[in-house]
Amino acid sequence: MSKVTVVGAGNVGATCANVLVTTQVADEVVLLDIKEGVSEGKAMDIMQTANILGLETRLTGVTNDYEKTADSDVVVITSGIPRKPGMTREELIGVNAGIVKSVCENVLKYSPNAVIICVSNPMDTMTYLIHKTSGLPKNRIIGMGGALDSARFKYFLSIALNANPKEVEGIVIGGHGDTTMIPLTRYAAYRGVPATDYISAERLATVAADTMVGGATLTKLLGTSAWYAPGAAAAQVVGAVLHDQKKLISCSALLEGEYGESDLCIGVPCILGKNGIEKIVEFDLNDEEKALFHKSAEAVHKTNAALATAL
Ligand code: NAI
Ligand code: 2OP
Repeated sequence: MSKVTVVGAGNVGATCANVLVTTQVADEVVLLDIKEGVSEGKAMDIMQTANILGLETRLTGVTNDYEKTADSDVVVITSGIPRKPGMTREELIGVNAGIVKSVCENVLKYSPNAVIICVSNPMDTMTYLIHKTSGLPKNRIIGMGGALDSARFKYFLSIALNANPKEVEGIVIGGHGDTTMIPLTRYAAYRGVPATDYISAERLATVAADTMVGGATLTKLLGTSAWYAPGAAAAQVVGAVLHDQKKLISCSALLEGEYGESDLCIGVPCILGKNGIEKIVEFDLNDEEKALFHKSAEAVHKTNAALATAL
């Protein structure tokens, strides 16, 4: 029996739960929110697709009842608030840091062996906070951001190449932010052939630029941040862990010297399996990519510094 808990039944959490159910990744999914009735309602709505779609996964919605999350193999944390006009970045960190820390404590009380996937923003800093406060081994804390950014990169790449999205390759590393993420254009490929064999370097640079503002573009169109791809990307990470898939996915991981950085969580290629982050893969970056990575790390360190006053 495999069990997954998703904390936060908002746009991203409910979408993640829906993907977990419709793809039948787990036997059981619990969706938890602090808002009375919301997770129960969304779970009921999703479960009413079970007969239509022929689904076996069971989804239950609960209001802040952590006992019902007991013995989860994987927990996805999406709870938190989005930035509102007039709020500083530090204020956002303050609110979300308190939520993520207390959610994590509650979850681990009932599922001490779970792998935690952090989605709440600012994601790299929230993932680092979990490392600092939970006492969990580093392999069991995964930040989800690179999976989404890489999916967006591959989306824009498939359009530029006029190709099937399943047949293009691309990976984004670095921080999960408009100016901190690094789409590795040198590794962008179509069926193993470098993308620049098909499109110009300028076109590929546009693909990278569109990827970097991918979240902001959607926020502008939707009036709030996106949820379909973020929810699906979180579910992809869940599947890789739950089914010991040994998939290489860009995730925010605690670095201890890898890529020449330490004491922060930032997006790097990771092998995911039943133990969470089983290996950080060190790509052979060129000087320009290395410089971008260190600049990105510097920005993430700066955001992390706000945690000192946030808790
Ligand atoms: P939302 O506002 O739709 O949902 C957040 C939910 O969290 C709400 O239902 C709220 O009631 C719940 N919540 C708040 N405090 C809670 C607590 N203490 N316990 C349980 N539930 C609690 O927001 P949305 O769009 O779902 O985004 C969620 C988070 O994910 C945000 O921080 C957002 O910035 C982040 N995000 C991260 C992405 C990534 O790639 N890492 C991508 C998209 C969003
Ligand atoms: C996104 O990338 C805002 O993290 C959110 O859509």
